Amino acid sequence: MPYKYDEIVPWGRSMEEYMWMFNLTPENLKLKIIGCGDGPASFNSEMTKQGYHVISIDPLYQYTTQQIQERINETYDNVIGQTYQNQEKFIWERIPSVKALGDLRMASMKKFLIDFEKGKKEERYVEATLPILSFKDKEFDLALSSHFLFLYTDILTFEFHLDAILEMCRIAKEVRIFPLLNVNSIFSPYVERIITELNSLGKKAIIEIVSYEFQKGGNQMLRIQ
Ligand SMILES: C[S@@+](CC[C@H](N)C(=O)[O-])C[C@H]1O[C@@H](n2cnc3c(N)ncnc32)[C@H](O)[C@@H]1O
Repeated sequence: MPYKYDEIVPWGRSMEEYMWMFNLTPENLKLKIIGCGDGPASFNSEMTKQGYHVISIDPLYQYTTQQIQERINETYDNVIGQTYQNQEKFIWERIPSVKALGDLRMASMKKFLIDFEKGKKEERYVEATLPILSFKDKEFDLALSSHFLFLYTDILTFEFHLDAILEMCRIAKEVRIFPLLNVNSIFSPYVERIITELNSLGKKAIIEIVSYEFQKGGNQMLRIQ
């Protein structure tokens, strides 16, 4: 049975995975970065520990650590259960099994949970919801979106995607989005339409190959400058 989600699930990746997904170079890490829909990823926590600067936004941050932990626990059974039924859609190399996937994600999300209260006080975790953000024009060098836009093509409209991406372009000099596939590893029909719209607005939008491929065929990101 294909994956089916009724809502966008809280599920978190590591800094190493963000580096692969977004072709982040050591120079890129020094930029002022905003992660849009970072949820319970450990990217912010790990980057901060290494002395870099990231602000993460997500509607999830309205909840307490305890409430987020409960949502993650509920999500775990759903995501891992559906992954067992859809194993042929993934490349089981860097992550060798569904069990290893669950362990890896839970380890990242634990790092996030430990850091959450401190990061909220330091205004590194900001409760905010695309497509409207309160940051100033070009306040950031780089805006990232991992496993939110395009992935949930079945739930989020084309208009939502366009508005969200234009908002990311407003607040950052460069935008990178990964993956370009939906939850069932099908190339999102929105991607080409988004590129056409962005080009018509004078923005350079290109598809770039990255060194991360877990969903089969999912080794591309959209880079907008
Ligand atoms: C699957 S998680 C991905 C988390 C993280 N980016 C990663 O790759 O590990 C998707 C996240 O998108 C967030 N989200 C849902 N709607 C959003 C919106 N309108 N604006 C920003 N984030 C949103 C969810 O709360 C969730 O944390």
